[in-house]
Amino acid sequence: MNISEAKKRIEELKKELEYHNWLYYVKDTSKISDVEYDKLLKELITLEDKFPQSKSLDSPTQRVGAPPLEKFKTIPHVKPMLSLDGTTEEEEVKNFDRRVRDGLNNEMVSYVAEPKFDGLSIELIYENGILTRGATRGDGVNGEDVTLNVKTIRTIPLRLIGNNVPTQVAIRGEAMMTLKAFQELNKRLTERDEQIFANPRNAAAGSIRQLDSNITAERHLTFFAYELMEIEAKKLTTHREEVELLNEWGFKIDPHLKYCKNIQEAIQFHHQIEKEREELSFETDGIVIKVDNLQAHEKLGTRTRSPRWAIAYKFEPRKEITEVQDIVVQVGRTGKLTPVALLKPVDVSGVTVSRATLHNEGEVKRKDIRVGDKVRIERAGDVIPAVVERIPEEGKNRNQPFSMPEKCPVCNSTVFQEGAYHFCSGGIYCPTQLKRAVQHFGSKGAFDIDGLGEKIVDNLVEKGMIKDLSDVFRLKKEDFLKLERFADKSAQNMVDALNKARDVTLQRFIYALGISNVGEHLALVLANRFKKLENLMIADIETLQSIFEIGPEVSKSIVVFFGNENNRKVISKMIDLGVNIKPLEEFKEKDLPLERKTIVFTGELENFTRDKAKKLVEELGARITSSVSSNTDYVVVGSNPGSKFDDAKKLGIKILDEENFKKLVGG
Ligand code: IVH
Repeated sequence: MNISEAKKRIEELKKELEYHNWLYYVKDTSKISDVEYDKLLKELITLEDKFPQSKSLDSPTQRVGAPPLEKFKTIPHVKPMLSLDGTTEEEEVKNFDRRVRDGLNNEMVSYVAEPKFDGLSIELIYENGILTRGATRGDGVNGEDVTLNVKTIRTIPLRLIGNNVPTQVAIRGEAMMTLKAFQELNKRLTERDEQIFANPRNAAAGSIRQLDSNITAERHLTFFAYELMEIEAKKLTTHREEVELLNEWGFKIDPHLKYCKNIQEAIQFHHQIEKEREELSFETDGIVIKVDNLQAHEKLGTRTRSPRWAIAYKFEPRKEITEVQDIVVQVGRTGKLTPVALLKPVDVSGVTVSRATLHNEGEVKRKDIRVGDKVRIERAGDVIPAVVERIPEEGKNRNQPFSMPEKCPVCNSTVFQEGAYHFCSGGIYCPTQLKRAVQHFGSKGAFDIDGLGEKIVDNLVEKGMIKDLSDVFRLKKEDFLKLERFADKSAQNMVDALNKARDVTLQRFIYALGISNVGEHLALVLANRFKKLENLMIADIETLQSIFEIGPEVSKSIVVFFGNENNRKVISKMIDLGVNIKPLEEFKEKDLPLERKTIVFTGELENFTRDKAKKLVEELGARITSSVSSNTDYVVVGSNPGSKFDDAKKLGIKILDEENFKKLVGG
């Protein structure tokens, strides 16, 4: 291939890869498999390596990260990045509306309201449609140059879509972490015994401000665009048009964005989102209300730090004050000991909280938390509530400071310390470690054994029916019948579930073993690379380390794990008991005709209860969500539908009546 042929092919590949990226990350659909995507990407990497002069700023190869920086450069913003005035009071919001109407000499002003994204604001600069710069807010005037990092965010286009893009434009929005990405990140960090993040906002901020963009790439950030600046090409009149244009250019737009005829509707929207808050895919601490008309923005102007045309109407924080009644120590799957505060039960915006994690001994000491203290707790991002701080009480006699026990509270084995954490040295002789290991073994990403939940696992281990992981596949119907609350049918279900689980992909098998530092993602990397378990079992440190994404620590845990005689025995016992590990390619998941489809229900169906209908489509691989967005595939409409029906029509989503729904699920 000569250079001009290579250039042509590179352009084709760039276009195609970015198109599939946009489909997947912005539109939540896909047309090709991961394997096909990787193949195209590999082809591009190879070509760019061969013809380095053809590398470009908007190449998808830049999304995987670049060599680490020494420090961030400071760069000026095109205009100050303002903040927002905020309130939790309805009265204040009405005052805001009054000021706006006075300022515009208008009887009525319409607004746009949208959730307030809880992340960190980012400015992106596009020149001739190509992303050339990304900066944090910094002090509002100057920010940090995080260009390499923002390029790894898949919902940020590297090149604006469409032919009619301006020569220069600045776009602002929020980089954040969805709850799913946040929970997965904390899970990975836990598996590596690293400090977890307290909430998605800290996680997003910590991930953007990484000198090594490879780490940012792993963190799966999302970006929602909300503001367009310095636009020469198009004259827009409303904020709604602005957002629509951003969407056309390839940005992800939040589907909840709502046009409000007056402030009353915006206030109503606040109440609606507050109710739906727990179901949203991301954390939000309120809504932002903006005057829709852009000329009005000019007229109203800004204060030093915030515009007069917008206000953040926040929710009451999910924080409460309560008392620590005891501090206990929990043992995890890897033997890690975690101090947990048992609290006087307290309602934190609708959820009763009675325990909160204290992370580790250092953390308890730093916050100086003792039994009997008053503390402030916070519930964020669906995580286990955390103790934020102690509330000092004058003149109170306090208890002794907390310290970690020297023996494991479960099995009495010696406790040792590694970094910030303490561990029980008992391994699977420690019943709690065995229980959690078995639970992990049967979990969704592992053997996915239906019904093997915490209570049953605890029971099986306590009755001595499980002594190592392989014993799971030794269990018979009679064994389950010996447990409480098992009858003929439920015991048979368990046996069926075990039989079904025996066929497993190599990735799931590796993950199920619970090797420290090896989460679902690395298990896939290993399965792809080694194809067969035997190959992985004999891999040495050098081979492992030569694999992209596998560092020295992971390599070591893998070699140590398979070097252990006991572990090898357990694996061979499993295989004797009929566990059948399938190489990746040969394994075909059950046929799921509605896989990746998103469905919303509204109104009542005649022949299905809502639960039944949901279950049906879920079994066929679809996902049910509570609100309609551009990512929804079908809206099923029964009698007396709600506002979702209107949303579907507005967004042009495919609408199914009961008859067509029946057809969709195969009659
Ligand atoms: S509009 C002049 N819309 O909240 C600023 N900001 O607490 C106009 N934020 O600095 C910003 N969600 O980073 C806007 N839907 C949204 C937002 C949003 C989150 C951030 C923004 C701002 C901060 C103020």
